[in-house]
Formats: sequence, structure tokens, C-alpha cells
Amino acid sequence: MNPGSGARVAVVTGGARGLGAAICRALAAQGADVAVWDRDLAGAEPLLAELAELGRRASAQQVDVADPRSVVAAANEVRERLGPVGILVNNAGISPQKPFLELAEEDWDGVLAVNLKGAFFCTRALVEDMIAARWGRVVNISSSSAQSGTPGMVHYAASKGGVIAFTKALARELAPHGITVNNVAPSTVLTDGLRSVEASLPGGLEGYVAQNIPVGRTGQPEDIAHAVAFLAHEASGYITGVTLSVNGGRYML
Ligand SMILES: NC(=O)c1ccc[n+]([C@@H]2O[C@H](COP(=O)([O-])OP(=O)(O)OC[C@H]3O[C@@H](n4cnc5c(N)ncnc54)[C@H](O)[C@@H]3O)[C@@H](O)[C@H]2O)c1
Repeated sequence: MNPGSGARVAVVTGGARGLGAAICRALAAQGADVAVWDRDLAGAEPLLAELAELGRRASAQQVDVADPRSVVAAANEVRERLGPVGILVNNAGISPQKPFLELAEEDWDGVLAVNLKGAFFCTRALVEDMIAARWGRVVNISSSSAQSGTPGMVHYAASKGGVIAFTKALARELAPHGITVNNVAPSTVLTDGLRSVEASLPGGLEGYVAQNIPVGRTGQPEDIAHAVAFLAHEASGYITGVTLSVNGGRYML
């Protein structure tokens, strides 16, 4: 993956399960050593074993991306264990639902702290490695909810809209350093996150898919992981600032 030198080191936040775990596997299969960052590492052991079976070095750190001290400590640990970080996937996110009229300040702050501020803290803690290497890939996970608007998730959609704007501004600022910054906007991928909001979908998941997803199925975590690995690839250096929608056609730009 990194011709002429050692493997790239990737950090994947929220990497212990769901989309994050699939992203860890895809990056390892593409030749990266992988640090799994998650606030809940339950069940991460089998994933680490899988990454090792792919011939890659892997580590897991318990991190709350909304806590800058936790992020900086994990960044230092990864550098010690695996080396300087070249790839960061800001995937950790929460997606609680609440009608706008019931939203309290704590709801708003809680979602923004993880989904948007977390991406800021992690990128801020690791970007200097990429600047020093004059190479880097930041891939943020946004959401089709920010592109189309989703009722009952105004705080979530606002946080993910922030992620898209964060991506574009950072892409411009970091381009002279050889660092690309892009985001993948998923929709309706079958994970615990989606299961937690399934009941609120009109017509249930099946009805929702029939009405909204032209491809006619839910997404698989591997669909998102493939897009992230593509953006993180050595050959993707001329792609920056984009939103890559991976949504079965739910929302078309
Ligand atoms: N699944 C979908 O259909 C879908 C659609 C659009 C966007 N997304 C986004 O994709 C990302 C992953 O979603 P998922 O469906 O895999 O969710 P998930 O709930 O299955 O997994 C999220 C992971 O993030 C971790 N996490 C949560 N808060 C954290 C924190 N403060 N610090 C560190 N780790 C934290 C969780 O422990 C978990 O392992 C999220 O950002 C989500 O908003 C998912």
C-alpha cells in the first residue's frame, strides 16, 4: 500500500463494531496497520485477531472521542505502538432520535460533542503526523440525513451537516500538505445503530427500503468500508473535499 516504506497506520474511531469494524477490515486488507478506537471495546478481541490474520499489526484503545484528553492519550499510545498515523477515519457517532419540540440543550450538546467535536479532536490530535510525512488521508463519516434532512433527528442532521462543512474547509487547508480530506455519506446500513431507530421508520425497515432505496436493499457495512478504503488509497490523492454518497440511490446530488 505504501511503496518504498512501511505500512500506513490507520486510526478508525468507533472501530469496534458496525461500519467501523468493516472499515478496519478493509483498510487492513489494503495493507494498513490499524488502531481501533472505541469507547466500548467489548467484542473487539475477535476483530483484532482478524486483523492479525490479515498480516497486519493492530491495537485497540478505549477512547471517548468527545474527551480531548482521552483522544490525545490514545494518539500518543498509537504512535508508540504502531508509529505515526497516516490515515484517520472519523466514524464514531451516535444517532438518537427526538422530535425537535422535545430537544433540550443537553440532547443537542451530546450529539454535537461526539459527531462533530469528536472529529475535530481526533483530527487535531493526529494531523501533525500527516503534515510531517507530507501525506495523509482523513475520511469522515457523515450521513444522508444531512443531505436530505430527516425528521426527528434535527440535532443529528445538523451534526453531520457540520461534518460535511468541516470536510470541505479542512480539505482546502490541508491540501498543500499532501493530505486529502473527504467524507462518505451512508444511508440505511444494517448495524446496531440502524436497529436502534428501525421502529420509527414508517412501514418498518422493509417498507422504508421499498419506498426509498432504488437499489432495493439495505446497505452492508462492507459497502461503506469499500468507499472509505477507496478514498484512503494511495492512488486517490487527486480526490479531496468530496462527499461520496453510498446510499443505494436514496439521495442523489
Ligand atoms: N448505519 C447507518 O445506516 C448509518 C447511516 C448514516 C450514517 N451513519 C454513521 O456511521 C457511523 C457508524 O455508524 P454505525 O451504524 O456503525 O453505528 P454503531 O452504533 O453500530 O457503532 C458506532 C460505534 O461508535 C462507538 N462510539 C459511539 N460514541 C463514541 C465515543 N464518544 N467515542 C468513541 N466511540 C464511540 C460505539 O461504541 C460503536 O462502536 C456513525 O457516525 C453514524 O452516524 C450510519
